[in-house]
Amino acid sequence: MTKIAIVYHSGYGHTEKLASHVEKGASSVDGVETVSLKLKTGLEDFEALLDADAIIFGSPTYMGSVSAVMKQFMEKTSKLFYVRGWKDKFAAGFTLSHSLSGDKLNALMQMNIFAMQHGMIWVGFDQLNQSPDGEPGKSDVMNRMGAFLGLMGQTENASPEITPPSGDLASAEHFGQRIAEVAKRFA
Ligand SMILES: Cc1cc2nc3c(=O)[nH]c(=O)nc-3n(C[C@H](O)[C@H](O)[C@H](O)COP(=O)(O)O)c2cc1C
Repeated sequence: MTKIAIVYHSGYGHTEKLASHVEKGASSVDGVETVSLKLKTGLEDFEALLDADAIIFGSPTYMGSVSAVMKQFMEKTSKLFYVRGWKDKFAAGFTLSHSLSGDKLNALMQMNIFAMQHGMIWVGFDQLNQSPDGEPGKSDVMNRMGAFLGLMGQTENASPEITPPSGDLASAEHFGQRIAEVAKRFA
């Protein structure tokens, strides 16, 4: 089996919702199993990730960066950095925030640099922004924010039951499937 791990933090449930759709997409691929680790403090044990073929990182964008909990987790992995424990695993990242931009790109870049420091192999998001011309950011289409470094979602100030919208959830499923297919091909 190809193993895909999803590690995420979610203060208010929105990133958790996106993570569940990423996992749904990954687990739809034959021969793939998933494991998910929800961070509460960032100090959790992450032994279960050691044999993963790919690790997908998810964090809300807080103050234009990954959350403090995700950063805590990143720093906790520094011992693995020295022994190249995650070298050549696939990596990918997703984030969401309240605003259309919200400076989400910075959070994805932090995850990307983190993965590069670990010697991982980064996989981006392959889908074009499918909003029709004249209707930018249409909420029921794939990749409405046109992000390629990783997956972006956008929330309103509402319960995770109704946000992020359907296009972001479909994007998340496609994203999870893509990472799983890439990891399976090289496993
Ligand atoms: C401490 C904090 C900082 C935030 N900073 C940003 C930000 O920089 N840009 C933005 O668009 N939204 C920002 N938000 C809004 C969150 O990104 C948004 O509510 C998101 O849905 C939260 O995800 P979660 O439910 O997984 O925690 C911030 C929220 C909090 C609590």
